[in-house]
Amino acid sequence: MALVSAKEMLQKAKAGHYAVGAFNINNLEWTRAILETAQECKSPVILGVSEGAGKYMAGFKTVVGMVNGMLEELNITVPVALHLDHGSYEGAKKCIEAGFSSIMFDGSHFSIEENIEKTKELVAICNEKGMSIEAEVGSIGGEEDGVIGMGECADPKECKAIADLGVSMLAAGIGNIHGKYPENWPGLRFDVLDDIQKLTGDMPLVLHGGTGIPEDMIKKAISLGVSKINVNTECQLVFAAATRKYIEEGKDLEGKGFDPRKILAPGTAAIKDMVKQKMEIFGSIGKAE
Ligand code: 13P
Repeated sequence: MALVSAKEMLQKAKAGHYAVGAFNINNLEWTRAILETAQECKSPVILGVSEGAGKYMAGFKTVVGMVNGMLEELNITVPVALHLDHGSYEGAKKCIEAGFSSIMFDGSHFSIEENIEKTKELVAICNEKGMSIEAEVGSIGGEEDGVIGMGECADPKECKAIADLGVSMLAAGIGNIHGKYPENWPGLRFDVLDDIQKLTGDMPLVLHGGTGIPEDMIKKAISLGVSKINVNTECQLVFAAATRKYIEEGKDLEGKGFDPRKILAPGTAAIKDMVKQKMEIFGSIGKAE
């Protein structure tokens, strides 16, 4: 199946009270692991590409070529959206041209007026091309230079103003952060999420920073309108741990254990397990049947 916009899969998820996982990709192994797991689990899936990962993979066009090739060669029949994660205005335009099926424009660091103006312009372009677009209100915290910034909570009225521009999904800060959560993290602000959902109605809401959020909080967030959950760090952690184990056990020194296909195999399998676990918690398994 060709790439699809994320709009329909997220509307279905919102109506069906489950969430679709958006998993970041970094290379061929990552992409293949996520696509194969989605197919095995009969789950819709979103492949997230940050601007940094796009550069790492030799540009957005290379990513589009790789993903489209895999959809065909691996006979992927579940709905897959290729989505720019935390895009700048310029990055969003590049992905639209390169053949992505979905973008996120993260204007959360601009004034709300500028965020609205730029989001509006990109909504018009995406509508014309049949692509989905995610906007963000209230910045999502995370580690920068070793300091973990707590997430800022979005103003529900600003969320409504952005939702009314016709975006397909809305990321709203509710105390969530990227990367590992610190010991003293107070948890998600369900009161804020509830207020946002009351004002934005059917709009699928996006939860960033999916790594390390306890299962009960994930389920509660889904019950309050979250229909897309982003996961990145958790796949990186299991990939790194499995690769470390392979090397520490000296497997690369046995026979042809140095073959990169062998070295990367345990990490790839670990990503598959993690993606499946997340799909189970999110409730998306079997939703693409
Ligand atoms: P984590 O790395 O915390 O899972 O967050 C992923 C994310 O939100 C990508 O946009």
